[in-house]
Amino acid sequence: MKTIGVLTSGGDAPGMNAAVRSVVRSAISMGMNVMGIHHGYNGLIKGDIEPMKLRDVSEIIHRGGTVLYTARCKEFKTEEGIQIAVDNCKKFGIEGIVVIGGDGSFRGARDLSLKGIPCVGVPGTIDNDIASTDYTIGFDTAMNTAMEMVDRLRDTTQSHERCSVVEVMGRHAGHLALQTGIAVGAVAIMVPEIPYSVDDVCKKIEITRQKGKEHFIVVVAEGVEKTVSEIAKEIEEKTGVESRATVLGHVQRGGRPTVRDRVMASYMGNAAVELLYQGIGNRVVCYDKGIIINRDIYEALQMKKPFDVDGYRIADTISR
Ligand code: ADP
Ligand code: F6P
Repeated sequence: MKTIGVLTSGGDAPGMNAAVRSVVRSAISMGMNVMGIHHGYNGLIKGDIEPMKLRDVSEIIHRGGTVLYTARCKEFKTEEGIQIAVDNCKKFGIEGIVVIGGDGSFRGARDLSLKGIPCVGVPGTIDNDIASTDYTIGFDTAMNTAMEMVDRLRDTTQSHERCSVVEVMGRHAGHLALQTGIAVGAVAIMVPEIPYSVDDVCKKIEITRQKGKEHFIVVVAEGVEKTVSEIAKEIEEKTGVESRATVLGHVQRGGRPTVRDRVMASYMGNAAVELLYQGIGNRVVCYDKGIIINRDIYEALQMKKPFDVDGYRIADTISR
C-alpha cells in the first residue's frame, strides 16, 4: 500500500493520540503516506481528510482526547453511507485504514473491508469491554482517574461517617467498576455481570459496621439497573447510614494518558500499520496473554468477554 488512512471513532479514550502518532510515524517510516480522517466515519463520508506528516503528530502523545476528533456516525451504518465512504477512499487514494475505537467501530471496519478497503482495528475504549483483547487503550487512565476521584470522596465520606455510592462508566460492562472498586477498597461493588442486590450491599455494610467500620464506599457500574441516587436512598433507609450519590461521568474519559496507555497505544498502532503494509486487512489488533496478536474482525466480534469473577470474590473477601 502507498497510502493509508487513520481515524478515531466512538467514545474517545486517553491514549488515542498516542495510537494516531504511532500509526503516522510507523507508516511514514515504512515509506507510506498517511491521511488523517476527521470526526470518525463522518469524515470519510464528508471527505474531511487531510495528509499527515511526521511533525503533525508532535506534542500529542501526552494529551487525552483525540486530535482527529471522534464521532458516532449513523449514516455509516447504511449501504449508501458505506458506498460514499468507499468512493471517497478512492478519491483520496486511501488503500487501507486503521480504525481506532470499540466494537461498533470495528463493525464499520469489517463492512469497509468487505467493500474492498482493508481495515485494521485498534481497540480504544475506557470500558475494556472488547472480547477479542485483554486490554483496550484508555482503560488504565480511566481507572486511575476514577481511583483518584474516589480517594477524594473518601476524605469527606470518612469525616462525616457516611456512605458514598459512586457511579463509574463502562457502558454495559463492569470491568472499570471492578478494578476501581478494588483499588479504592470499596465495601461493595455492583456490576451488571454479577447479581448483587442493594439488600446484599446493606448486609455487607451492617456486617462491617459491627466490626468497627465507620464509613463506606460503594462502587456501581453505570450498567447496573438502579441509579446511584436510588441505591444511596435505599442504603440510608435500610441501614440508617447517611448516604450520598456521586456520578463521576465524563471526567473519566479525559486527562493525560498513563504510561500503560501510551505504550500499548504505541505498540498497537505500529502492529496495525505492519498489517496494512503487508496488504492484510479485516483484522483487529489484540493484546492476548501479554503479547500483541491480531484476529479476524468477524471472529473477534463473535467472541464473549469473560468477567473477572475471581477478582470480584477477592474484592468481597478483603473488604470486610
Ligand atoms: P464504539 O466503537 O466505541 O463501540 P459505537 O458503537 O458508537 O462506538 O460505534 C461507533 C461508530 O461505528 C458508529 O457511530 C458507526 O458509525 C459505526 N458502526 C457501529 N456499528 C456499526 C455497524 N453495525 N455497521 C457499520 N458501522 C457501525
Ligand atoms: O464507551 C465509552 C463510554 O464512556 C461509556 O463508558 C459510556 O457509557 C459512553 O461512552 C458515554 O457515551 P457519550 O460520550 O456519548 O455520553
